[in-house]
Order: sequence, then C-alpha cells, then structure tokens
Amino acid sequence: MDLLGQKLSEYVLKNMCSFHTPGHKGRKDLLASLIFPDFDLTELPELDMLHNPQGVIAEAQMRAAFIYGAEDTFFLVNGATSGNQAMFMALMSGLNGKKVRVERRAHQSVFGGFVLSGLSPDYVPPLIHPDFRLPLGLNVEHFTEKIEDIGAIHITSPSYYGTVVDLESIIRFRDREVPSIPILVDQAHGSHYHGALFPANAVRQGADLVVHSTHKTLSALTQAGMLHIKGERVDKLALKKSLEILLTSSPNYLLMASLEKALADLESPWLWDDLHDEVIHLHEELDGYLRILTAKDAGKYGIYQVDWSKILINTSSLEIGAAEVVEILRNSFGIEPELWDHENILFLLGSGNRPEDIRKLREALKALVKKYLQKSHLKRTIKNNHPPDMNHVDLPPMHLTPREAWLAPKRIIKLSDALGKISGETISVYPPGIPIVAAGEEITPYVMNYLNKAEDYNWQGWQGFRQGQISVINQ
Ligand SMILES: Cc1ncc(COP(=O)(O)O)c(C=O)c1O
Repeated sequence: MDLLGQKLSEYVLKNMCSFHTPGHKGRKDLLASLIFPDFDLTELPELDMLHNPQGVIAEAQMRAAFIYGAEDTFFLVNGATSGNQAMFMALMSGLNGKKVRVERRAHQSVFGGFVLSGLSPDYVPPLIHPDFRLPLGLNVEHFTEKIEDIGAIHITSPSYYGTVVDLESIIRFRDREVPSIPILVDQAHGSHYHGALFPANAVRQGADLVVHSTHKTLSALTQAGMLHIKGERVDKLALKKSLEILLTSSPNYLLMASLEKALADLESPWLWDDLHDEVIHLHEELDGYLRILTAKDAGKYGIYQVDWSKILINTSSLEIGAAEVVEILRNSFGIEPELWDHENILFLLGSGNRPEDIRKLREALKALVKKYLQKSHLKRTIKNNHPPDMNHVDLPPMHLTPREAWLAPKRIIKLSDALGKISGETISVYPPGIPIVAAGEEITPYVMNYLNKAEDYNWQGWQGFRQGQISVINQ
C-alpha cells in the first residue's frame, strides 16, 4: 500500500472521537448517498457545468440560495479560501482607490485576496480576552469610524473560536450612513447558522456577500464551501469571472454532491438539539474548574454572542499544560480536538457528532480535573492573573499593501536581525491561520516575541523558520 493511504488507514482504525473538521465526523450514514468512486465523474452532458450551470448544478445552487436567503449561491470546490479571494477580486474595479476595512485577525485567505486584488486593507485590531489570551472580540465602533476612505467592509463572524460580531449594528450603520458600501462576511465557521439554537445567518442579516466553509460544520466533504450574494452592491458578473479564475475547470462531483447533501442538515435542526443539551450540561459540570467560553461571556471584551457548538477551554487551572492535556485526551480517551495552544483547547462540533461524543468529552475532562486541578483552584474560582494591557493589540505598522509587498524585491536575513525590518512574507500560526505579521508590515517587538518561539508553533507562510531566517523587503 502507498504510504499516505497506509497512514490514513492506520488512523481510521484508531476510531478517534472527532471534535475537528470536517463536520460529518466520518459518519457513513450521513454520506451513504455519495457513491465512491462511481460519482467521481467529469462534466458530462446531463451533469451540468460548474462555471456555466444550466441544469442540476444550477438547481442545487438555487436550493442553497433559497435556504440561506441569498439571491444566488455559488458552490466552491476549493474551500472558503477561494470564496474570500473571489470576494476581493470582484471589488477590484469598483472601489476607486478606497480601502477595505478588515479585521487584522482575519484568515490568511483574506490576505491572499489582498495580494490577488491589489486592494488596500484598513485593519481593525482585535480585542484580546484576558482569560484566554486569544483575539475573541472586537470593538464594533472601529468598523464605523472615519468611514470616508472606506469602499467596503469585510468581517469574520464567527471567529474560529465561536465568538460572534454584532453584525446587525454594523449593517444598520451602513444602511443609514454609507448605503453604497458592500459588507462581506467570512462566516466560514457558521454554515450551520439556521434556526433558533444559533446566531443569525449573515445573508439574512443583510450582508452582500457571505462565504461558508460548509465542510467545517455540516456534512459536506473537505474543501466544499459556498459563496452567497444578495443585492446590487457587488457586481455579480465580476464575482462569477473571479470564480472562473480561481476554481478548477475540473470540479469534483463528490464535493458538489456533498454540498447539496449538507443542505439536509439545515432542514433537520433537531440534529443539534441533543448536542446543545449535552454541551450545556458539560458547561454546568466543569465551569469553575476549567475556564470555558460560554454564553455568559457575551457582552464582554467585544464578544457579542457565543456559538455553543465550539467548546473552548482554558487549561491554566490544571497543573499540566494544554499540549499535555491533548496528549492524554488523544492517547487515553481517544478524543481528537481541533486545535490547541499553550493554554487553550478548541473542540468543534459538526452535524455528525452524537450526544455520546460530548458525554465522552465531559467524562474525560472531569477525570483530568480530578487528577490535575491545582490546589489553589479547589474553591471553584478562576483568577484572572493576566495583565490588564493584554486586551488590546498593537498592530504592526503597514508600510506596503500585501500586493506591493508581494511584488517588491526581497532578501533572506537572520531572524535575530529582523527587528524593525518590513516582512516579505505573511506568517501565521496554524491553526488558526491568523497572521502574526502580514507581508508589508513592520517586524515589531510584539511580532519578534512570537517568532522567537518558533519551535512552539506550527507555522504557515514562514519558509525559513527551521533555519532561523526570514524574508524581508529590500529597503
Ligand atoms: C475564518 C476562516 N475563513 C476561511 C477559512 C478557509 O476555509 P477553507 O479551509 O474552507 O478554505 C478558514 C479556515 O480555517 C477560516 O478559519
């Protein structure tokens, strides 16, 4: 057997309980109607064409548009990544030199969108939550101040960690003060927002373009996503042309069929009811022993709402670090989380999870608390020991736009000489894929602090991290 296939088979045999993407969690019953390899076909006459759909693909996309409240929906076979990029490319001819206001904590595909489009970002800093030391919230007023130079707004909601932005206020402001500005929403982690248990779907809230990474929380195959459009503010033809450039000319029918299949998850909201009850039970049993992000955190540190289907726990009340907790969860309990850092672990639910998965997680966490809770935490209190100035981020100054930086001559230097130079690459810790420094930004002491701990993280975009080198712009 080939090596990759062998590794995959070995992994599957472990029968891990998945709290990571994709949302189907390997459940065969959810995907039984996708027949492999029979469905791996090309664009044959009765099977329609993704780039000029007139038949079954058009019908499936229309069904998705109807369910999400969009005018048109485009199926993506290269993830929400291609949706973010297409959004920016579609704006290229309409902004007349104005900037796009965008969160600095946005996914790296947004930075790719700036390189491809040549548009200029106007970054909004995140608010760092002092208990988790993560960029969970933001100050909505940053989106609405000094709006004269702004031609479009891009918002990520929910964040990877499930914190939701007050989109309604931003849209109300736009409608009142600057009605021509399009609002683009990266709702990659919220394809399942449908029904009373979840925050609102951004299309129905009035966003112009919304991208969903359907594979993350619904039962679509990895890479399958959707891009929705509503209204006239963004040129639909430009959007279609951008997708023609960005998406393959050989779209995978299994991915497309899985997108249509995933719509059934939205039409079965009861799938989530039992999961919701189990998550609330988990919160009740563990809150106070472990710091868990819950609905009680809404309204503080720039968090508007919390999506309960993402379980973020902070492990600093335990005697061991998050990486060790993850090792125990994986090796002793067969539980696989989505991501972790030094002190936090994120567990993602999808439509394929069953209530017993959450019960298993709850029992495992209880066992860990019993064994490793620090004595000082026994009184069921969590102290916030972090300095108060942690709740804002000093963004590195931007000297060049991402595209100017892409085109500029560069050189490789030693990391120890990099302070004060302009980064030639966009460097992210992955996951979550949020850049520590974007190409064109200054390498500040805050950035150096991360880069100097290279061994502690998984990096994307940093070619020379093993050699202790970094690409900088020639000055
Ligand atoms: C906020 C956000 N947007 C976009 C993406 C890209 O999605 P995809 O993996 O479907 O390309 C991700 C992936 O992690 C993400 O977290």
